[in-house]
Amino acid sequence: MDRRIVQWIDRRFPLTAFIKKELTGYPTPRNLTSWWNFGFLAGFMLVLQIVSGIFLAMHYKADAGLAFDSVEHIMREVNYGWLIRYLHSTGASAFFAIVYIHMARSLYYASYHEPRELMWWSGQLLLLLLMATAFMGYLLPWGQMSYWGAQVITNLFRATPFIGDEVVLWLRGDFAIGDATLTRFFVFHFLFPFLIFGVVFLHLVALHYVKSSNPTGLELSPKDQIPFHPYYTIKDLYGLGWFLIVFCYFVFFQPELFIEPENNVPANPLQTPPHIVPEWYFLPFTPSCALFPTCWAEWRP
Ligand code: HEM
Repeated sequence: MDRRIVQWIDRRFPLTAFIKKELTGYPTPRNLTSWWNFGFLAGFMLVLQIVSGIFLAMHYKADAGLAFDSVEHIMREVNYGWLIRYLHSTGASAFFAIVYIHMARSLYYASYHEPRELMWWSGQLLLLLLMATAFMGYLLPWGQMSYWGAQVITNLFRATPFIGDEVVLWLRGDFAIGDATLTRFFVFHFLFPFLIFGVVFLHLVALHYVKSSNPTGLELSPKDQIPFHPYYTIKDLYGLGWFLIVFCYFVFFQPELFIEPENNVPANPLQTPPHIVPEWYFLPFTPSCALFPTCWAEWRP
């Protein structure tokens, strides 16, 4: 019965041929190390963030008067709401850690060299989209750090030549950060992961065209390549197992490690917190942090 269904599809759509060419039989260098596991892990995190985000959105209220309480409601009253939220908040940190390792691998092994330039550029676009998504998501709990972080970052755009004030107004949707800002950030925070999905697809189309590099940096002959399945499906799943052990430790035993304590206080536009600090994954982009390492000390996990 199954075979007949597959044959029926194959006569109309190249399903089996596609799976064989691009998945199971896809030729892969036989000498890839565990550093090549991180692209798969990044894809896994993207799916986890989308799924947990959809469940959070079922209970979250994108309204400045309700947002903070709706997150408390998720944490205390929704069945396993705490788990969904901690998967999502810890997941954001894990996603960045994985992408930074993935980029470090690309730099170390010069994976950005010809003919993989488009892999690197599409990757840079992915990083930008990921940063925008994380930044907008951080406003949603409407805590003190959410509010003041958004205040600082949206203000940076005032430095845009000639149209700085208009750009800031356009980003915030109002003269100050408020309900309009929260609603648009929620809409884009929901939309962007699907854009990222599309760019990841292009990233993989480019990869399958030029094929993976390998630790030697040499282009390999066909005899040095093996089919992706079962060798790398097993290797990716093995890496996923190790990753999940570390990830679950943080989700279940240290879930607040990456959440700024100040963010458990509702946003108050009349009270600036003593320290406005970005999430750890934005620290390298904070000019004052790069220039004055003492400011790293302000980052309290
Ligand atoms: C959503 C984020 C991302 C996902 C899901 C993703 C996914 C993948 C996957 C599955 C691979 C093949 C397996 C591997 O080589 O690890 C790959 C390869 C690659 N990625 Fe990414 N990637 C992401 C972000 C990035 C970023 C930010 C960069 C760099 C700016 C980048 C640069 C590359 C390069 C150069 C390769 C080719 C590696 C090689 O063949 O040696 N990727 N990516």
